[in-house]
This record gives sequence, C-alpha cells and structure tokens, in this order.
Amino acid sequence: MLQDKDRIFTNLYGYEDWGVDAAMKRGDWDGTREIMAKGQDWIIEEVKESGLRGRGGAGFPTGLKWSFMPKERPAGQPAYLVVNADESEPGTCKDREILRHEPHKLIEGALLAGFAMRATAAYIYVRGEFYREAERLEATVAEAYEKGLIGRNASGSGYDFDIHVHRGAGAYICGEETAMLQSLEGKKGQPRLKPPFPAMVGLYGAPTTVNNVESISVVPTILRRGAGWFSSFGRPNNTGTKLFCISGHVNKPCTVEESMSIQLRDLIERHAGGVRGGWDNLLAVIPGGSSVPLIPKSVCDEVLMDYDALREAQSGLGTAAVIVMDKSTDIVRAIARLSYFYKHESCGQCTPCREGTGWMWRVMERLVEGRARREEIDLLLEVTKQVEGHTICALGDAAAWPIQGLIRHFRDEIERRIDDYQRRTGAIAAE
Ligand SMILES: Cc1cc2nc3c(=O)[nH]c(=O)nc-3n(C[C@H](O)[C@H](O)[C@H](O)COP(=O)(O)O)c2cc1C
Ligand code: SF4
Repeated sequence: MLQDKDRIFTNLYGYEDWGVDAAMKRGDWDGTREIMAKGQDWIIEEVKESGLRGRGGAGFPTGLKWSFMPKERPAGQPAYLVVNADESEPGTCKDREILRHEPHKLIEGALLAGFAMRATAAYIYVRGEFYREAERLEATVAEAYEKGLIGRNASGSGYDFDIHVHRGAGAYICGEETAMLQSLEGKKGQPRLKPPFPAMVGLYGAPTTVNNVESISVVPTILRRGAGWFSSFGRPNNTGTKLFCISGHVNKPCTVEESMSIQLRDLIERHAGGVRGGWDNLLAVIPGGSSVPLIPKSVCDEVLMDYDALREAQSGLGTAAVIVMDKSTDIVRAIARLSYFYKHESCGQCTPCREGTGWMWRVMERLVEGRARREEIDLLLEVTKQVEGHTICALGDAAAWPIQGLIRHFRDEIERRIDDYQRRTGAIAAE
C-alpha cells in the first residue's frame, strides 16, 4: 500500500483547508522560484525522466508532449497551456477532488508547466456542472495573484504568466482537446481534424498544449522530489502514483491515490471495502472509465492497474475509473446504457460516429431483450470495427469498445437471451 509520506495529494478528502496558507503548510509553492531558475529545458527533461504519462485517458508521455511546443516564436505571438478540467467520462471523479481540495497544486503546476513550454497564459476549462469547483478555482487564482505567485513576475521568477478560468456548458465532447479549443474560442465544441496539432496551431491559432488536471497537478511534487522518486512507483513505462476512482458494487466507493501497477483486486479490497457479497460475487469490471472494454472476473483476479497490463488484457487504463459490477448486474443493459450515452454525446460531424452510435445503441436495446437473430451479434461487432478508427476523434472508438468487450466476454449471455426470446415468442425475432 502506498505510504502516506509518498502521497502527492495530502488533502484529497478535504480534511484540511484548501486555501493558500494551508496549502503552503502542506508544501505547495515551496521553492517554486528555485525550480524555475533551473530553466525550461531542465523541467521538461525531469518530467520526461519521471515517466509521467497523461492522466486524461490517452496516456501520452507528458514531457514529450511539452517538448513539441516551439522554443522560438515570432515576436508577440502568444502560446498557451490549456488545462482540461472537463471530467465527464462516466465513472471518473478524481479531477473534481483536486479542484475542491488541492487547487493550489493545479495552479502551481500550471505555472511550472506553462513556464517550461514558454506559454504566456493558461486557460483552465471547467466542466459546466462543476459550479462550486469553478468558484473555488476562481478564488484560488485570485489568492495566487494576490500573493504574487502568478501574474507579473510570477513567484519572483521574472516570468509573466496569467491564468484564466473558463466554464464549459456540460458537453462531454468538449473534453476532447481540439473541441475544447473550439469551445474556448466561442465556437460550437466540435473536434478539429489533426494535423495540424495544437502544439503548432492551437488556441486562437497559437501553439497550445492541452493537459489533464491530474497530469498538471502532480508536476510540482515531481520537480521537488525528483523524477527518480516518482518513477520508483509502478513498473517501467507505467510509473508514478495515480488517482483511482472506484465505484459501483463495492462496499465503500472512493477516490484514492495509489501506486501505479497495483493489483486490481488489492485496490478494490484494500480501499473500497471489497466487492459487495465478496470477491466471488464479482461479474466484471470496467477498469478505466466507460470508454474501455470491460474485463470479466477471471481477468480481474490477477490483472495489474497500469497502461500495459490492461492493454494486454484487451482493455485500457483510460482515466483509471474502476466501475465494479457484481453478479446482480444485467451486463447487456449496462453496456446498452453506455451506448446511449455515446449516441447522445456524439457531435455529429462524422458519418460513422453520428449514424453508427445510434445504430449500435438500437441493436443493443434489442439485445437486452433478446429480440434479435444470433447473426446480428457478428453484424454488430463488424459495425463497431467500421466505426473504430474511422472518425475525427476518439469518441467513435469510445462508443465501439464497450460493445466489443461485451461480445468478447459475454457472447454466451447475449445468445442465451436471443434463444430465450425465441422460445418465449416462438418466432425468429428481428426488425
Ligand atoms: C470524447 C473525449 C472526451 C474527453 N474528455 C476528457 C476529459 O474530460 N478530461 C481530460 O483530461 N481528457 C479528456 N479527453 C482526452 C483529451 O482529448 C486529451 O487527450 C487530454 O486532455 C490530454 O491531457 P493529458 O495528456 O494530460 O492526458 C477526452 C477525449 C475524448 C476523445
Ligand atoms: S467521432 Fe463523433 S464526436 Fe468525434 S468528431 Fe466525429 S462525430 Fe464528433
């Protein structure tokens, strides 16, 4: 179990005050100027060395991403850091705890990350429903300006850096990084085609990097304690500590910081009070937020919670939101509900996603009842493959993967329902 001395988020549950004085007592803003004095390249190298990978879902190496930002720019051209606080992936509730209880970690991280990338300002894009969190963030930014931590000559570094808080209006798609840029510019939140990538043409056409709240908030501690300390947790290529959100059929749902690569079973039993009715009552787990394929109990028995182990298990770490389903779950209905979510959130730009998400959801609804033909299972699988990888953004993949996971591991259950339905109605039922 991760020891308290190795926790980055020491006020995750809000037992102490969130404000600047209490945050400073916990170590935030300690030696920020000295860290900046080591220079932009040192910061980027240290973050690369730490092995930190983006905590927003895709797991792209953070230091590498920062190195894509141009070192030289035409005079007067701005560059931006955009912090993704949209947190809308079902099951995911980690960034909001940072916004509520550890907001100074995010603001200090934004300064250090922005400085490393030679950015002129940061925009923090907050999910519309996070009304109180946005208020707290605004109060935190105000405190940081007042103390001279950000703004002109931020933290006495000689570097000017502004931070703006921007509230979204509650669309899941605005969490996709280029849709977020469109939304910030006041346009409809629809993803942009890449290339050009945001590091070249981002917000208002200027070089921009988008990073998740957790990715940015762990940076100050990494720089203070050293890349070697951070990378001592987890396995190579899967380093660090990580916030896991555990929900569903567990005795004590929680968000907890743990070492990367912890066993899924350990995570659930030590921190979430175990599966309701005991481990043997487990049916399946969605290990990384609603977009990743579920894994059945047989895989859950041994699997490690990291990028590589979950990829090998044909799933993914995603946002590390662990959704636990016990044997009382109607697994087909659960996945059908997710299909509805993706259909509802599709921005409609690409035909495979706009049409495919609705089509997949309608078939899923029939499969819940068994009102289908057996061949339609393969047809559905085929359609998921036609959507996956054929769209502008990853929402198409996110809609396809949960269904693929269901068919991979619970085809028997779908077939049983189809056979039952036919027995009950005496008809081969399909539309
Ligand atoms: C449909 C969709 C929704 C997303 N929602 C979020 C989100 O709410 N928060 C987030 O940090 N990343 C989200 N992402 C991922 C972002 O596009 C981007 O990869 C991430 O913010 C990069 O930060 P990181 O490198 O620090 O992980 C989403 C991606 C997609 C395709
Ligand atoms: S994949 Fe879906 S959500 Fe993404 S751009 Fe295309 S239509 Fe919009």
